[in-house]
Amino acid sequence: PHKPHYHSNLIAMGSLSMDEAFVQDPEHRSKLTVTEATGIPVIDLTPLTAGGDAAAVDALAAEVGAASREWGFFLVVGHGVPVDTVARATAAQRAFFALPAERKAALRRSEAAPVGYYESEHTKNIRDWKEVFDLVAHEPPPGAVPGGGVVYKNKLPEDLPGFREALEEYMAAMEELAFKVLELIACSLNLRPDRLHGFFKHHTTFFRLNYFPPCPRPELALGVGRHKDPGALTIVYQDDVGGLDVQRRSDGEWVRVKCVPDSFVINVGDTIQVWSNDRYESAEHRVSVNSAKERFSMPYFFNPSLNAVVEPLGELVGEDDPPRYSAYCWEDFLSTKLGSNYKKLDVENLQI
Ligand code: SIN
Ligand code: FE2
Repeated sequence: PHKPHYHSNLIAMGSLSMDEAFVQDPEHRSKLTVTEATGIPVIDLTPLTAGGDAAAVDALAAEVGAASREWGFFLVVGHGVPVDTVARATAAQRAFFALPAERKAALRRSEAAPVGYYESEHTKNIRDWKEVFDLVAHEPPPGAVPGGGVVYKNKLPEDLPGFREALEEYMAAMEELAFKVLELIACSLNLRPDRLHGFFKHHTTFFRLNYFPPCPRPELALGVGRHKDPGALTIVYQDDVGGLDVQRRSDGEWVRVKCVPDSFVINVGDTIQVWSNDRYESAEHRVSVNSAKERFSMPYFFNPSLNAVVEPLGELVGEDDPPRYSAYCWEDFLSTKLGSNYKKLDVENLQI
């Protein structure tokens, strides 16, 4: 089907101006009245931080398992991430996107490495109505890659005091939370809590700051087009504006994830779908925008190590349950996705 022609004159909003590059095919546009999802579980992780007894932790694992099966999405509260840590990160995020366009452009993503500022991200070939700032959670140390290859060194705005510290503190808190949730996922699959840890020894996690400016034509564009996350887990902090929509498994309807103060939204990605041999499925999601309010969110994409093998876990396959996927290496997935921009890292020499 042909993309409808967009006749209106350009409408500029900050760094973005509305043109046909942003226009979704009619079947993928957002109805401006997306209903709030009822039933996405809000899971209280307090028993973990309170050194909970085994029964309480088992009950949590069961909740995480049910949510991962039924929605692929859940919210967590009582997660132990200090409110100050979140507040410092969101302040850094707002300060960054408030910089003049040319200061942001100075940190623009280059061909060599997908880190830094970017305002022209496309999802399924349609431009997203957003600006982003990307970081890697762990930079390879200097000299780790003697054979060349891409070294993802973060590109930070050195003129914003406290920016690096705030985000490093936040990412450290996310890493801790990610491993806790990974353990709950393992338990929910009747595996030892640390069964999946080995895949994350040198995890290739990305962290993104999202800024969705008000959009003059929210009925045509999306902040992020529909997609599934390829990695293991995504942990999102969002403000109180709302816009993250999930496709409900039961009927394919798009529903809005509600904004719960001091919570994180967590979704399982394709990697967990494969490890679990489809017991858990990654859900399609998107971000709707609106004409009145800007929105900020911070997804932490918890991805395995480059050499992690992604295939159904041996414990979860059998005669009655044959593997539904063949094995691939996380690095092969990354190199396919990033295409010619990606040069293999010398994993043997990586000592993070
Ligand atoms: C996403 O990364 O899929 C969007 C997260 C969000 O803005 O809620
Ligand atoms: Fe996503």
